[in-house]
Amino acid sequence: MKNSVSTFISAKKAGTKLTMLTAYDYSMAKIIDECGVNGILVGDSLGMVCLGYKDTLSVTMDDMLHHTKAVVRGTKNALVVGDMPFMSYQSSLCDAVKNAGRFLQEAGASAIKLEGGAVVCPQIKAIVAAQIPVMGHIGLTPQSVNMFGGFKVQGNNSIDAKKLIEDAKKIEDAGVFAITLECIPAKLAELISKEVTIPTIGIGAGGGCDGQILVYQDMLNMFEDFKPKFVKRFANVGDLMRSGFKSYIKEVTEGTFPSSEHCFKINDEILKSLY
Ligand code: KIV
Repeated sequence: MKNSVSTFISAKKAGTKLTMLTAYDYSMAKIIDECGVNGILVGDSLGMVCLGYKDTLSVTMDDMLHHTKAVVRGTKNALVVGDMPFMSYQSSLCDAVKNAGRFLQEAGASAIKLEGGAVVCPQIKAIVAAQIPVMGHIGLTPQSVNMFGGFKVQGNNSIDAKKLIEDAKKIEDAGVFAITLECIPAKLAELISKEVTIPTIGIGAGGGCDGQILVYQDMLNMFEDFKPKFVKRFANVGDLMRSGFKSYIKEVTEGTFPSSEHCFKINDEILKSLY
């Protein structure tokens, strides 16, 4: 079934859990989509898991559009959400609307996500006014890593926790259709989820959220630079890939690959004529 913003809102009302995963290219999007997730986020995490940067700050609009186009081509049913990269929406409302529009117009995404609480309400309002669905993102917002002093759990004192609840309500009022809650205590995420009428999608925010999202390289053990506490390895694809690549190297060096079944034949007469 084709997922839309309405699917997300209905799921919250029905108490049905939503599932999202990240994807960054055509073939992964196709596999993930076929499995039946509600949403695919083309996250700016691609800066770390695909491009090898230490954080997400170097990711550009061009990077995001390039990968979002590929994901859209591989997706039939999931809602594709494009992640607004650092400095694509902070500098002006005009930039925010124009860049958000590029995700829909050039890449074919159905919604965008941006990071921040009350401070980005003007951007959310302007983008929603342009008829572009917006997903919010509060808690550990990786584009603010330099303000946080690292990738740390957020909202673990009463001032910060109250601010997160306020932020969630304010961005809901500004018009977001869902909110990503990243790296916040489970009980706080549960409280926020009860305080808003739109779905919360947690990552490191416990089971009280209305849905979950993970970076696929994390949950398949394909990205091993570090493992956040909240990541569960659902499969060991990294080791499976290593084993496949090693077998390939062994067979090529031993001369057992390619064998006749992987070769094209030529007519013997044609071959003879070449000598
Ligand atoms: O960029 C990303 O993948 C994200 C998720 C971690 C929510 O923002």
